[in-house]
Amino acid sequence: METTVVDVNLGEHSYPVFIGTGCLQPILPSLIPPTARRAAVITQENIGVEIATGIEQKTFYIADGEHIKTLTTIEKLCSEWAKWGLTRSDIIIAVGGGLVTDVGGFAASIYHRGLEVIHVPTTLLGMVDAATGGKTAVNLPEGKNLVGSFWQPSAVVCELETLLSLPEREWRCGYGEMAKYHFIGSNDFRQLELAEQITHCVRFKADVVSEDERETGRRAILNYGHTLAHALELEKDFVLAHGEAVAIGIRYAAEVARLLGRIDQDRVDEHESVLKHYGLSYTLPPSSDIEKLIALFSRDKKAVEKISFVLDGPKGIELVEIDDKVILKKAMEALL
Ligand code: GLY
Repeated sequence: METTVVDVNLGEHSYPVFIGTGCLQPILPSLIPPTARRAAVITQENIGVEIATGIEQKTFYIADGEHIKTLTTIEKLCSEWAKWGLTRSDIIIAVGGGLVTDVGGFAASIYHRGLEVIHVPTTLLGMVDAATGGKTAVNLPEGKNLVGSFWQPSAVVCELETLLSLPEREWRCGYGEMAKYHFIGSNDFRQLELAEQITHCVRFKADVVSEDERETGRRAILNYGHTLAHALELEKDFVLAHGEAVAIGIRYAAEVARLLGRIDQDRVDEHESVLKHYGLSYTLPPSSDIEKLIALFSRDKKAVEKISFVLDGPKGIELVEIDDKVILKKAMEALL
């Protein structure tokens, strides 16, 4: 496959997203700015992707699991970079899934008041969603992704070879986000080859981010299925992975939209058929604490006064404010 390049157009912060097989090694050195003396590679022990930047480089490992996505991890990384002598003109290369690019991107945004970062997503979820768009964050005990920044990478390289060793659960997680694009975009891209599906999602996301980098409007649609997903991840103490929780969140959003008269049963059925196509389960775990989940909605960072939900409807997917908790509860009971 030829390498495809999708541009995220953000004026002086524009950057390319490369998607291809065998593209990482040839492209990466050409993306290192001439001012950089050192590259700090942030990754995890089990990822094992070889990185050759052509300049002095050192690898910094973070552990796995949503629990390490904290300010403590950021502080530790920044300390290690400081001890090594990393400066603002150097560069960070974040190699891994959404957790690594979120943590690496956030640390890059604040270390020495910000330095360049290149993301090398190695999971499907990272490629179709997390690595592009500049959202970085860590969690607080009170909620997911509550502390972070908008910090655009200077490039994203989706090396498709890294997917060859992806565990089954990681595929499901990526497909959870991919299913989201089915509903927020207008095309059914289920029949495309994987590389084309990834490109389709990246193109769509690049277009949305180019139009609304800071999520003051259209970008909110990228959070389809995420309000319940974030609450479920917290309520289940991250036993559910993000993409798995998004799949349930998407089905739940359809149920809420149906109860509000925004969509009909056919569209709900379409939600189920797409989620099934991607091998995703969308029932609420039986032990779910519905009251707690609804309480967690109000803590989600998208909540302003009423509970903000991204819902399907006659005008497509849009942000809707809901104050009727009875409907939220009823929709959840329907998914048990
Ligand atoms: N993952 C949602 C966004 O980037 O806006």
